Amino acid sequence: MTPLALSSGTIAALVVIVVVDLFAITFGLSFVRARRAARVEVGRPGVHVARAEVPAKAPKPVTRREFFRRSLLSSLGVFAAEFGGATLAFLWPNLKGGFGSVITAGKLADIKEFISSNNQPFYYGAGRFYIVAWSGHKSGSVDYAAEGVEAQGIMPLYQRCVHLGCRVPFCQQSQWFECPCHGSKYNRVGEYQLGPAPRGLDRFKVTVTSSGDVMVDTSQIILGPPRGTNTIDEPPQGPFCVAPG
Ligand code: FES
Repeated sequence: MTPLALSSGTIAALVVIVVVDLFAITFGLSFVRARRAARVEVGRPGVHVARAEVPAKAPKPVTRREFFRRSLLSSLGVFAAEFGGATLAFLWPNLKGGFGSVITAGKLADIKEFISSNNQPFYYGAGRFYIVAWSGHKSGSVDYAAEGVEAQGIMPLYQRCVHLGCRVPFCQQSQWFECPCHGSKYNRVGEYQLGPAPRGLDRFKVTVTSSGDVMVDTSQIILGPPRGTNTIDEPPQGPFCVAPG
């Protein structure tokens, strides 16, 4: 298991255990040291203590002041452990299932069915990607399918506009992706068509498991194809949602 795979709860529990252990060890050592110091004091020349006053094996009685001091230290130790654990759990990156990790987007059959019956890409908000139907054509010498961005007729597209980073919605009318910020337009599979964007929409690697789960790796962005790439050659199917910039 990698460190990032640890859950927040596990991290918090580990921190609490470590801090409590450290506290117990420190407390035990100080207690032993105090006992030794008492023995040395009794054995020193000139220090006369009646044998009856110092029982050979009797534990040193704990004074009220010492009792309160130890209680206070114990409380502080537990509080520090809880606070440290909670802080670490809050700050620890919880990437499991979110953007930046490998995400299970759903079943391949369901995603394909959604795309064809709704005539629009499958959108997965938590992963910040769309999944479009694409059969993995080559573009010039570049084989985008070979880069792992296509699997069994689907391809994930990063929702972020490659111009200045706005989220690019899909326009049902035109069947293109149209950026509302400066009017960049990409065709149905995210290839550049119009506007200031320097290339097509970026992609993610995708695999389909033997049980049909679509796994999208959002930890690595694969740069979109350059301007001029047009593997589907589909003009807009209706009026634009965003006026051309
Ligand atoms: S951010 Fe999309 S066109 Fe500028």
